[in-house]
Amino acid sequence: MRIVQVSLGNRSYAIKVGGGLLPHLGAECAQLKLGHRCAVITDSNVGKRFAKAALKSLSASGFEPVLITIPAGEKSKRIAVVEKCYDQLAEHRLERKSFIVALGGGVVGDLAGFVAATYLRGIPFVQVPTTLLAQVDSSVGGKTGVNLKSGKNLVGAFYQPRLVLCDLDTFKTLPKREYISGLAEVVKYGIIYDAVLFAQLERNLAKLLRRDRLTLRDVVARCCEIKAEVVGQDETESGLRAILNFGHTIGHAIENSSGYGKFLHGEAISIGQVAAAKLSQKVLGLPSGDIGRIESLLRRSGLPVKIKLNPTQRKKLFDAMKLDKKVSGGEVKFVLAEKIGRVKFGCQVPAELLAEAV
Ligand SMILES: NC(=O)c1ccc[n+]([C@@H]2O[C@H](COP(=O)([O-])OP(=O)(O)OC[C@H]3O[C@@H](n4cnc5c(N)ncnc54)[C@H](O)[C@@H]3O)[C@@H](O)[C@H]2O)c1
Ligand SMILES: [Zn+2]
Repeated sequence: MRIVQVSLGNRSYAIKVGGGLLPHLGAECAQLKLGHRCAVITDSNVGKRFAKAALKSLSASGFEPVLITIPAGEKSKRIAVVEKCYDQLAEHRLERKSFIVALGGGVVGDLAGFVAATYLRGIPFVQVPTTLLAQVDSSVGGKTGVNLKSGKNLVGAFYQPRLVLCDLDTFKTLPKREYISGLAEVVKYGIIYDAVLFAQLERNLAKLLRRDRLTLRDVVARCCEIKAEVVGQDETESGLRAILNFGHTIGHAIENSSGYGKFLHGEAISIGQVAAAKLSQKVLGLPSGDIGRIESLLRRSGLPVKIKLNPTQRKKLFDAMKLDKKVSGGEVKFVLAEKIGRVKFGCQVPAELLAEAV
């Protein structure tokens, strides 16, 4: 097992990464000195595979868990579902020291985290992320929240978990497309922060693609460490945290303009990262060898690296980019790479260069 410590003063916590961790959920929670009653929030796909093990482990350690299952999918990330969760928490008489376990992907983590942040003005919560994206990204950093009809993640809170338990065995049932989509975020960490990690990914891609446990343990832990380091320096996203958005300005626009659901998030940001690399060459002189390595690693992972657009789709994409929340003062600001392992944020890009890159 690898342990990554997230240092945020009195809200510090550990991320534990390894195989076979779910059966120890109860024992891990027992060390946190929480109340007896708790709720496991999960979704319909994850629940049928892992809820039993989670409940069994919690009960064996003396906790009294209740199970709350939401329908799988992004549509569940909304206020109406939050309210249903509150009702079940109240019915089960959860109180201030009680806690919530988020068992699932990013949808469950964001929703359950928001429920925990707001129920009784905040009760403790533990994350058990079960997708690659959730383990390396959404479960680290304390962003929780839900969507509104007018846009994604518009309501939320910064709220840190007490523990994150990344059980690599949960990937055994994760659909291939979801797994590969998560790899796009993994590659991102190499580009923005760690040339050594990037080279390791290039070398060990075959092992990673067959979900080799030891390779995954090191890679997931390193990604969590990087995100924790970045977030630790900028918890509420006023500066450095922006580097986590490499490839995301264009990626979000692709998700938006193509209608949510066509591309998974990781697929869209894979295309976004290749476009951002091309922009980086023009604006910051990123060597063409580095662009080649980025494109090739993403392609070999099984991710899309370009998108064909007709003029109407192209216009839609550019409009979506202007609506992205990273726009400040009317200018679209980009995170661009100087070389693999080092990026700059807040870069302005002339419109004609952007048009060439996309
Ligand atoms: N809070 C943050 O900082 C942050 C960062 C990135 C993304 N997010 C959010 O994360 C969400 C996306 O997360 P996601 O990609 O994990 O999607 P998800 O939670 O919808 O999971 C993807 C699918 O896989 C299923 N699944 C999950 N784990 C499984 C397993 N082990 N075996 C079988 N099936 C499994 C789910 O039921 C779902 O159908 C988005 O809502 C996004 O906004 C949040
Ligand atoms: Zn992302």
